[in-house]
Amino acid sequence: MDYLTVAMAKGRTADRAMKFLEKADVRFSEFTDESRKLVIFDDEQNIRLIFVKAVDVPTYVEKGAADVGIVGKDTIMEDPRDVYELLDLGFGKCQLAVAGFPGKEIKGVPFLTVASKYPNAAKEYFDRVGVRTELIKLNGSIELAPLIGMADVIVDIVETGTTLKENGLVVLEEIADISARLIVNKASYATKTERIQQFISDLKMGLEVNS
Ligand code: PRP
Repeated sequence: MDYLTVAMAKGRTADRAMKFLEKADVRFSEFTDESRKLVIFDDEQNIRLIFVKAVDVPTYVEKGAADVGIVGKDTIMEDPRDVYELLDLGFGKCQLAVAGFPGKEIKGVPFLTVASKYPNAAKEYFDRVGVRTELIKLNGSIELAPLIGMADVIVDIVETGTTLKENGLVVLEEIADISARLIVNKASYATKTERIQQFISDLKMGLEVNS
């Protein structure tokens, strides 16, 4: 049997995607939060789900190791790959934003030190507005960087805004709206068109029931 292979990260993305698929009667009985299994199948044995790190989802899809992937737009922007982005799943909504101390000037200034988990997306933004930058790549607790004077500003995900608020920081500029997206391998889309479209319509059905 030729499975449709779908890559996603465990955690919130997988939980939400499972809920939508269940609404379309696509069930993964093996799926539990506690399970450490990296490969599971749906009950009809048509779909093979592989769990990978979110940042690796586009790589699996571009290389054809997965036909389809579900991943945040932030990851896609940071590391653009040669894949189709076919659906905005509408969950995992947040913003990619420049943040810093209130009143910090970020436009019309010659130079800024910027800390971010998304150095490419940050550089792309500051190049666009004509500000030279030194980018400092961090992997977490990004909000700390301006607090201890390591960076002038940060580029990070803002969801509820709580982390910024509790650390005396504010959004200075919104860069992009982020949400979970469905990406598809280009060759798979040509050879497994019907199955991929079926998977997309199952997801869409779940999205509609949910909204
Ligand atoms: C993310 C992001 C912000 C925070 C934003 O961090 O990097 O720090 O969430 O969420 P909020 O607006 O709802 O406060 P994450 O929780 O992934 O932890 P990290 O610091 O380890 O990256």
